Amino acid sequence: MQTISDIQTLQQRCLDARAQSQSIAFVPTMGFLHQGHLSLLQEGRKKADLLVLSIFVNPTQFAEGEDLDAYPRDFERDEALAREAGVDLIFYPTAEMMYPDGYASYVSLEGPLTNTLEGASRPTHFRGVTTVVCKLFNIVQPHLSFFGRKDFQQLAVISRMTEDLNLPVQVIGMPIVRESDGLAMSSRNVYLSDSERQQALSLVDSIRRATAMVKQGCADAAKVVDMVRQRLQQESDLSIDYVKLCHGPSLEERAEIDAESVLLLAVRVGKTRLIDNHLLAEDLD
Ligand code: PAJ
Repeated sequence: MQTISDIQTLQQRCLDARAQSQSIAFVPTMGFLHQGHLSLLQEGRKKADLLVLSIFVNPTQFAEGEDLDAYPRDFERDEALAREAGVDLIFYPTAEMMYPDGYASYVSLEGPLTNTLEGASRPTHFRGVTTVVCKLFNIVQPHLSFFGRKDFQQLAVISRMTEDLNLPVQVIGMPIVRESDGLAMSSRNVYLSDSERQQALSLVDSIRRATAMVKQGCADAAKVVDMVRQRLQQESDLSIDYVKLCHGPSLEERAEIDAESVLLLAVRVGKTRLIDNHLLAEDLD
């Protein structure tokens, strides 16, 4: 395994692999790897000859006052985990390399896919995500790239960008990996105190209850949203950002629940912002 920071060196290495007819799988991350990230790497390892991981805490997707400086980082631990997962190349650039003086180009999608849900709460977030992922695709030139459904809207936005801009990359969505008690894995979970960690379980608990309601025949989105809000509001340090029931492929809110309905949640527990989601037609195991 090799760690490369320099953009041109990494790009040339990937071009050489392509010239030798090697397929390239790519997993972009912000590091502080957990089992969720590792599940993407495991799939990438199975599907391609060269497995590339990027670790870059991308400043353009954080707004003023968000946790860019506090975001957890541990490169040595990440390197060890990446080696174990069979990564061939880690791309580990600095912010100055990715956004040098005079940098002026941004990729931004218009419309409801980026201005609802996360986009409503964090208006500049997706512009930063699409810009960096587009840059990373151009640098790594992967055949396949893996993203978690934990960030359901991010996956939809990146799929849209890839299709709209005819980027020659297959974007693959992967299931949410959860802790044994159900909390969706996230690098930000380390911010939680014991009591907050306990309260954060209301996310998965409300998802379980919503799934059960739908299984019992409830197709009324408002009723399910109401139940979920009430469950979350039982936690003293939790404030709701949004609870929405959307049609998965379009992310449009729908009054009636069907096989493609996704429950999307964003809350703040203490100072930590957490998101979760679930396709309601699926059991939560
Ligand atoms: P990061 O939060 O580090 O996540 C990297 C990838 O891991 C994303 O595709 C995310 O959806 C996936 N992931 C995170 N937690 C997961 C879980 N519990 N189960 C399954 N997959 C999970 O998302 C980003 O970084 C950035 O926005 C990035 C795409 C790298 C652009 O900067």
